[in-house]
Amino acid sequence: MTTLDVNRLDLEQITLPARNVQAYLSAFLRHRPLSENLKRAVEYALFGGGKLIRPILVIRCCEAVGGRPEQALPAAAAIEMVHTFSLVHDDLPAMDDDDLRRGRPTLHKQESEAMAVLAGDAMLSLSFELIATRMKSADTALEVIRELSVGTNDMIVGQVQDTLPTDPGDLDPIDRLEEIHKNKTGALLRAACRMGGICGGAPAAQLAALTRYAQAIGLMFQAVDDLLDVTSTPDELGKAVHKDSGRGKLTYPGVLGIEGTREQITGLHAQAHAELEDFDKRADPLRDLCDYLAVRQK
Ligand code: IPE
Ligand code: IPE
Ligand code: MG
Ligand code: MG
Ligand code: MG
Repeated sequence: MTTLDVNRLDLEQITLPARNVQAYLSAFLRHRPLSENLKRAVEYALFGGGKLIRPILVIRCCEAVGGRPEQALPAAAAIEMVHTFSLVHDDLPAMDDDDLRRGRPTLHKQESEAMAVLAGDAMLSLSFELIATRMKSADTALEVIRELSVGTNDMIVGQVQDTLPTDPGDLDPIDRLEEIHKNKTGALLRAACRMGGICGGAPAAQLAALTRYAQAIGLMFQAVDDLLDVTSTPDELGKAVHKDSGRGKLTYPGVLGIEGTREQITGLHAQAHAELEDFDKRADPLRDLCDYLAVRQK
């Protein structure tokens, strides 16, 4: 891991599918009648400079198992809407109470709390509508919908565990931390990888390997998020920093310290790579993405 340097990674290449996903989402919304103010709010939230990691994972997992990226576009666009809904609600005063997201005012600051709640609701339901209406195969759509709904519900379970901290109550801090992170962040990353694999027609063994890859990068992703909360700045990160400890959140740096968190990230990074061992070079973009996620600065 010491050889990894974010400046030496080809970020343009790693994030290449993001542009197609945004164009696809934008066309979907253009043709979907919504009230003017709701559409403005949804577009503000969706096109605000996110990294689009989940849709990139959907597309890259589809390609890793031999599928074409177009097969995975509806699923990729849908999961970005679910993720964005989760962030809009996560930032609300009743949740993390944040004013800054992706370098801009959070949606409830830009519009209103009512609109942030409702735009989040809309993005969640539109995501399932998109899959149901845009996927070519009804059987695949059904499987993808199952993955996305399970992932969304697990994410919500994790948000409850993170926000209303009595649950899960009787575990050691590190086990409890892993349980929360596995749900609040890992679940959608896992859904992304599985949805991509399903769109590409992955056989069971490959889908299982992608699921294990997702589990490793899922924990790693939140470990990096927790680390950046203590080591970064709002300018760099596009969101407030030093907020987790003030709110009594259970985080990797809080439990393991900064060095311990870095070691955890190194271990999870190696584990994610190991899960891809049986894949050919079509999984290289997943390997590069894993490297980027370990050293990302925002
Ligand atoms: C932030 O997710 C919330 C977490 C799950 C840690 P991202 O870091 O993927 O946020 P964007 O979409 O790039 O803004
Ligand atoms: C949020 O985790 C995970 C979600 C399900 C949205 P955080 O609360 O740590 O995410 P940030 O730091 O606000 O992006
Ligand atoms: Mg939160
Ligand atoms: Mg938050
Ligand atoms: Mg955070």
